[in-house]
Amino acid sequence: MQVDVVLGLQWGDEGKGKIVDALADRYEVVARFQGGPNAGHTLYHQGQKIVLHQVPAGIFHERVRCLIADGVVIDPEILVQEIAGLERMGLSIEKRLFLGRGVHLILPVHRWLEEVSQEAERIGTTRRGIGPAYADRYARRGISLADLERSDYRKRILELIAYHQAHFPGVPPVEVPDSFWAALESLRRLRWVSTYEWLRNYKRILAEGSQGTMLDVFAGSYPYVTSSHTTVAGVCAGLLVSPRQIGRVWGVSKAYATRVGAGPFPTEVTGAIAAWLQERGHERGSTTGRLRRCGWLDLVLLRYAIEVNGVTALIITKGDVLAGLSSVKVRTGGPDDAPLYEELPGWQSISDPNYEAFLRWIEAQTGIPVWAISTGPEREDWLIRRKDLLPESA
Ligand code: IMP
Repeated sequence: MQVDVVLGLQWGDEGKGKIVDALADRYEVVARFQGGPNAGHTLYHQGQKIVLHQVPAGIFHERVRCLIADGVVIDPEILVQEIAGLERMGLSIEKRLFLGRGVHLILPVHRWLEEVSQEAERIGTTRRGIGPAYADRYARRGISLADLERSDYRKRILELIAYHQAHFPGVPPVEVPDSFWAALESLRRLRWVSTYEWLRNYKRILAEGSQGTMLDVFAGSYPYVTSSHTTVAGVCAGLLVSPRQIGRVWGVSKAYATRVGAGPFPTEVTGAIAAWLQERGHERGSTTGRLRRCGWLDLVLLRYAIEVNGVTALIITKGDVLAGLSSVKVRTGGPDDAPLYEELPGWQSISDPNYEAFLRWIEAQTGIPVWAISTGPEREDWLIRRKDLLPESA
């Protein structure tokens, strides 16, 4: 078995969904290994825009099986809605989508906790209950899909709610809507599998990351991070595979940088350049609709992310968004509060030799080949620069 990985090298929103979609038919399985509905992978399928929050981006490939693996936390209601949307597009989800029994549930009480404890405000979270759901998981009182196979599962869910409410006296109690129980029932029509055993039936697996390295709960800018391991370590933990089974690691980075939510951002810009990037790059969160903070590419952090993940090839996205600027800046050193920049000549389009020079400069600075670039938002808008690095078809 070989597990190749697509992951983000920045703060998420690098364009991973599109890369996974493009690579998927070279694999038997595409598996999400961490995170939950805080992610928003935007894809364009038959001219329609679709945002996937929990379903892996390999779902549009008929032959490919998709797994939501044990490292993930799911919101049952959001997942059921997402599946219904895909079925309306004519996809037969039951044949393609599998759930790991070790997946944990985000309960209505987790979203409630995020609000009443003001965690959402302080960190600028996506308000999806991610942090509290992982907190319960690590505190060993979380509820997994396997728990739903027991007859007393409703009681356990209600007890967990009561436990949290006891810590916030006076706050209006959380309600469990009927739609939540209905969503749990509806998920029973999918196949629930033992991630460890099921994955052993396959040889070629693509692990799909969400968020990005700088949002990893250990490797990122703590506490301004998400609550899961977005790095390659999360693949081993979330899919129950050994580090020796990890093959290629595709690292995705924008040609500039963005961040949603609070926390340090050394290369952040404001004013005209920020407005340029936000407008041309459509830098608005696909899950929350928030305007993203924008800045220049940060090579110091990029090198760090490459090292932490053992990246074997880079994919640079959104170079087209910078087209038209007379020059672009990239941070090459200096401390976070006084970054040093190199200024490089701008490009008019992604076929401009200056863009190729920019890519070669990144390769020289990082020692990692830029395998491909994306050239626009559509599914087919991307270019492979190094065909020799492409895996064979499955
Ligand atoms: P949470 O994951 O909702 O707990 O949010 C924690 C931090 O991660 C916040 O700064 C969010 O904006 C950020 N975040 C979570 N998911 C994504 C994502 O998919 N893209 C970009 N930022 C994200």
